[in-house]
Amino acid sequence: MSLPDLTIRPRRLRKTATIRRMVRETSLSVADFIYPLFVDEGITEAIEVKSMPGVSRIPLTDVEAAVKEVEALGIPGVILFGIPSQKDDIGASGWDDDGIVQQAIRAAKAACPDMCVIADTCFCEYTEHGHCGVLCGEEVDNDATLENLQKEAISYAKAGVDIVAPSGMMDGMSAAIRSALDDAGFTETPIMSYAVKYASGYFGPFRDAADSTPTFGDRASYQMDPANRREAIKEALLDVNEGADMLMVKPALAYMDIIREVKDATQLPMAVYNVSGEYAMVKAAAANGWIDEKRVVLETMLGFKRAGADLILSYHALDVARWLNDD
Ligand code: PBG
Ligand code: ZN
Repeated sequence: MSLPDLTIRPRRLRKTATIRRMVRETSLSVADFIYPLFVDEGITEAIEVKSMPGVSRIPLTDVEAAVKEVEALGIPGVILFGIPSQKDDIGASGWDDDGIVQQAIRAAKAACPDMCVIADTCFCEYTEHGHCGVLCGEEVDNDATLENLQKEAISYAKAGVDIVAPSGMMDGMSAAIRSALDDAGFTETPIMSYAVKYASGYFGPFRDAADSTPTFGDRASYQMDPANRREAIKEALLDVNEGADMLMVKPALAYMDIIREVKDATQLPMAVYNVSGEYAMVKAAAANGWIDEKRVVLETMLGFKRAGADLILSYHALDVARWLNDD
């Protein structure tokens, strides 16, 4: 038996750590990350989220320390989620200038003026029914919700937010928020749109953390069907046309193809959300000693970058920053 004539041997470039480093195509940086924070108006001490080991709901008084920790690690941004002490039918505390997110924005900016403070802009944490907007019967009324999103975005901007991030998958949400911000004089406040967000089982632990589980039905009439790929491009291009400044794809792990396609179809910076269920799975396996947590997490984050992500929202961000800073 004779061997083929191997003129091309890819292993030549894998021979040493130095060469591997020189031909590496993708890299991870602490600057790629955004860390989610859950601020609960109704508590005075942090409470760990059971399904998300290492993640807590924090009281307003802990925001300063939390943001300083993020900043000390070199992470450039946080995204805030608020759990109000009062909920109602329409989520009015979402646009209360003294609402929990507005207070958290002010606290975060006071503690770390250079931190990029992003506010998730939705209503599921503020409504009694847990849906992402105003109900009409059992349906979320798109256009009525847009009006409330406009008020919420302006209120966050007044509190000093750096970026608003509408996450409710309402049609026209980026355009509605853009015109409202502009009319109110906030022409320089960017929108990071959750442009491509699927109705996902991977949000389960988040809904424990943010107390936002719908009391009836599900979000399938506004979030996307996980089976759809073309529709993701349609949604992304709509947001580009509506004036969104950044796009997001969410969840991340089961949607790597979508991340790549949205990246190739658009020119905007793109974030991916490595969601709560993705985090919980890794944490559970790691706690059992079944996987090497650091290795698996870094590999996953690199995969998001390779797929086209410019920014990664992740509950692993603090650990990732520590690992990257150590190496
Ligand atoms: C609110 C919102 C959700 C997440 C981010 N913003 C939950 C949902 O749509 O039910 C999920 C984040 C995560 O799972 O980590 N619209
Ligand atoms: Zn929502």
